[in-house]
Amino acid sequence: MIEFNAVTEATAPGKIILFGEHAVVYGRPAIAAPISQLRAKATITYSSSNNCYIVAPDLNRHDRLQDLPPDDALALAARQVLDAAHIAQPPDVTIYVSSQIPIASGMGSGAAIAAAIIRALAKHLRRADLQTNEMVSALTYEVEKIHHGTPSGIDNTVVAYEQPIWFVRQSPQNQIEPFTVATPLRFVVADTGVRSSTKVAVGDVRGQYEAQPAQFTEIFDACGRIAQTARAAIEAGDVVQVGQLMTENHAWLQQMTVSSPELDRLVAAALNAGALGAKLSGAGRGGNMIALVANDEMETAVRAALHQAGAKSILTTILT
Ligand code: PMV
Repeated sequence: MIEFNAVTEATAPGKIILFGEHAVVYGRPAIAAPISQLRAKATITYSSSNNCYIVAPDLNRHDRLQDLPPDDALALAARQVLDAAHIAQPPDVTIYVSSQIPIASGMGSGAAIAAAIIRALAKHLRRADLQTNEMVSALTYEVEKIHHGTPSGIDNTVVAYEQPIWFVRQSPQNQIEPFTVATPLRFVVADTGVRSSTKVAVGDVRGQYEAQPAQFTEIFDACGRIAQTARAAIEAGDVVQVGQLMTENHAWLQQMTVSSPELDRLVAAALNAGALGAKLSGAGRGGNMIALVANDEMETAVRAALHQAGAKSILTTILT
């Protein structure tokens, strides 16, 4: 007989990509960090209905697992765990899902929701082997394929490990390295309010790469070099250089056509207000941008400028 925990809960954070989005899909290094104050949560309780339900009030969802199609992200997260645990008959539980992370905004909301469901269900089943960061990341990756098409693996990694990571997509195993942040980095994160599909942006970049391989290889190489230099600057505590590299990275993302008028407006506003650097973060075409600030005064000025330039929400996160 399998024993279960009565009520189980797990959470996972949102994330920002500091350097290397899109180029990371093509094997160039990238740097990402969790945003621990924005989280997705999954809570599992017993259900007397002889069924496994997935309930997500924010998404207007209340479904039986067995009724959901194979490409449903919430269902796939649960099924990944059941399959890995070799459980054919889902347990009689309700999986409640909620999230503070805005969707389709480059903050890894899909990965965080999947990771929370996976961790909570693995905990409920008392399967310690399915709760390791490595396993949660691997199972979340399978769900990410629905959102991304060809995900690099960076989102699932950063939300599962919940620490700043250096990431290189490679086989047989991705390179995943935590690294030291010598001087805390303070980022203002601002949302354009424009929702954008990661899958579409990633697909468009692929199309352009296939049409102009030499030009896009150069762009990806430049982003890879920036990430490499940025890691050294972060480890050395050279905050000014980190900022300059962010702004350079944004220019290359513009070349990839993944920026947008709204993102460019917020980036320009942050820089004009004195930010050390600014760039879009994530898949682009909408979603969030990040600006690096050095102190309270700069933060206040940059937040005011972003607000003025139309940011729909603004938060500050400190990377230590
Ligand atoms: O989920 P987002 O919007 O943060 O985008 C992920 C980053 C990409 O590099 C654009 C895609 C990927 O799989 O790495």
